[in-house]
Amino acid sequence: MQKIIKLLKALQLVLQRPALLNLILKDETYLLENFTKAFPNVTLQELDPFAWTEAEELKITPYAFLSGSSMATDFAFLQMLCRKYKIETYLEIGTWRGESAANVAPYVKEVFTLNLPDSTLRNMGQSSAYIDSHRFFSKDIQNVTHLFGDSATFDWQPYAQKCDLIFIDGDHATEAVERDTKTALGLRKSSDSILVWHDAKQDAEYPRYDVLLGIYKALPKELHQNVYLVKHGLCAVYIPDALVGQAIAINALPKRAFELHLTQKEV
Ligand SMILES: C[S@@+](CC[C@H](N)C(=O)[O-])C[C@H]1O[C@@H](n2cnc3c(N)ncnc32)[C@H](O)[C@@H]1O
Repeated sequence: MQKIIKLLKALQLVLQRPALLNLILKDETYLLENFTKAFPNVTLQELDPFAWTEAEELKITPYAFLSGSSMATDFAFLQMLCRKYKIETYLEIGTWRGESAANVAPYVKEVFTLNLPDSTLRNMGQSSAYIDSHRFFSKDIQNVTHLFGDSATFDWQPYAQKCDLIFIDGDHATEAVERDTKTALGLRKSSDSILVWHDAKQDAEYPRYDVLLGIYKALPKELHQNVYLVKHGLCAVYIPDALVGQAIAINALPKRAFELHLTQKEV
């Protein structure tokens, strides 16, 4: 009886506020089922870049510690990739405060970062405070070029086959991730180029299956074996290099601890 009352209450709420349906569609068990149905043979694996020599000395700057920021370890990962693989041309979808762009800029020749234009964000009803925070950290960096447009309709031709690393961090809906990943495949300078996705994990341990579904749908099957979730952060990466991945282990005992020294700067 209780269940029927709950169901009726839930139905009434959904009828009043249909957007609540999104909560059901974002349910992790449902998303996992969807992913497993689509890719029954994929076993997720994890890469530990913090075991690389590049991890010995890392400086994450700038870091805003504000809502929606990536994890510091995500910026560390991007920096390590840029150093290890001598990335020259880095392109990202999703600028926002320009934190990721600013973090990689010292380690590459050129950074291209695309975002929806301010006018589009305004038309979408976003607040001025949110819009004004775009490009805050990247606007004055010499080797950063800001691009404006919707990744779905942007003219990618000038960047086709030019990029060593593409960071996908725009719209995280499955269809958008799939579309941006297909775009990114065409932007690769060579088959050695690297793709990174943000928010492929819900937190530092749990996979995020709606984003992973977009990634695996977009990539040709033969590339699947080179996709890794990234330890200690929220990214997934496609690296054609022959690296050794490990099975993901949720709630395993920590094997290392980090020490953070926080320094503040006026901005
Ligand atoms: C998570 S933020 C990017 C954060 C940034 N990469 C960082 O780590 O500092 C996502 C950004 O993508 C932008 N965005 C969302 N959909 C987009 C699209 N279709 N095309 C271009 N930009 C998009 C949003 O306006 C937002 O600023």
